[in-house]
Amino acid sequence: MVASERQSGADRQRREEELVRAVLAAFERTPDVRLRELLASLVRHLHAVVRETRLTEQEWAAAIEFLTETGQISDAHRQEFVLLSDVLGISMQTVAVNDTAGPAATEATVLGPFFVAGAPRLERGADIAMGAQGEPCWVEGSVSDTAGRACAGALLDVWECDEDGLYDVQRDGAAMAARATLEADPEGRFWFWALTPVPYPIPDDGPVGRLLRATSRSPMRAPHLHFRVSAPGARTLVTHIFVEGERLRRDGDAVFGVRESLVRVFERQAPGTPTPDGRQLPAERSWTRVRFDIVLEATGDLRPAR
Ligand code: BEZ
Ligand code: FE
Repeated sequence: MVASERQSGADRQRREEELVRAVLAAFERTPDVRLRELLASLVRHLHAVVRETRLTEQEWAAAIEFLTETGQISDAHRQEFVLLSDVLGISMQTVAVNDTAGPAATEATVLGPFFVAGAPRLERGADIAMGAQGEPCWVEGSVSDTAGRACAGALLDVWECDEDGLYDVQRDGAAMAARATLEADPEGRFWFWALTPVPYPIPDDGPVGRLLRATSRSPMRAPHLHFRVSAPGARTLVTHIFVEGERLRRDGDAVFGVRESLVRVFERQAPGTPTPDGRQLPAERSWTRVRFDIVLEATGDLRPAR
């Protein structure tokens, strides 16, 4: 390498570093300290990506086109940016960074795009399926906190897909189904009927689906049942339980949401096995049962949860 080429390499590096410093300086007067910190980190890391990969202008244009499509396909019912965050593991990383409850508390995982506020309030013991099809599943458990107190009257939002792998909100004009809000009893106990969770693909007919295919990744989520649990004096927990089994081990989870501590055996019961509450199921219908004891992080703030 001749001296002038070495010089130009050093010049280039100096110019690139100067640009990073100039951009950081441009944000330095941001009055909101946290916003300044976030932007500085973003600028440092994004510039590092461009420099490390020697990003071409065509590649950057393609990335912008991809992000543009991600925005264009998003609406009130579809949030492709959330999906992008999910498949990049950013949603789960954000959950992990904020899940500071310690090992005694139940682990958190992603909320996902299918939570709906204001789900029907059902009695303990009810069937949340409300017409959604699938194998019945008896779910029972308790809610307590890390201080060892039972969370009397804890509120549980539960939601899941049907046997076709679809949530109610994915079916045009469908009524709410396979979702409910339930209240724990004075000892913090709950029980209800749901559907045995099945694996399903995240929406993959948009740019995020293209990204998954281009990278030979599966769109499948491990079978799960969603929970959002709140109680006075405790931090609200968003989590799932996952079905132990071959599906989980083989297909993994497109959004990196699985935590070993959240995997449960859903015990399959042969048709005709008496149910815990005497519910009569069709003679040929198998069912499953699962237990989930939830421990919320105690905060000491005893105002009503919501
Ligand atoms: C869900 O579990 O509902 C979900 C989570 C992330 C992306 C898509 C779906
Ligand atoms: Fe889900």
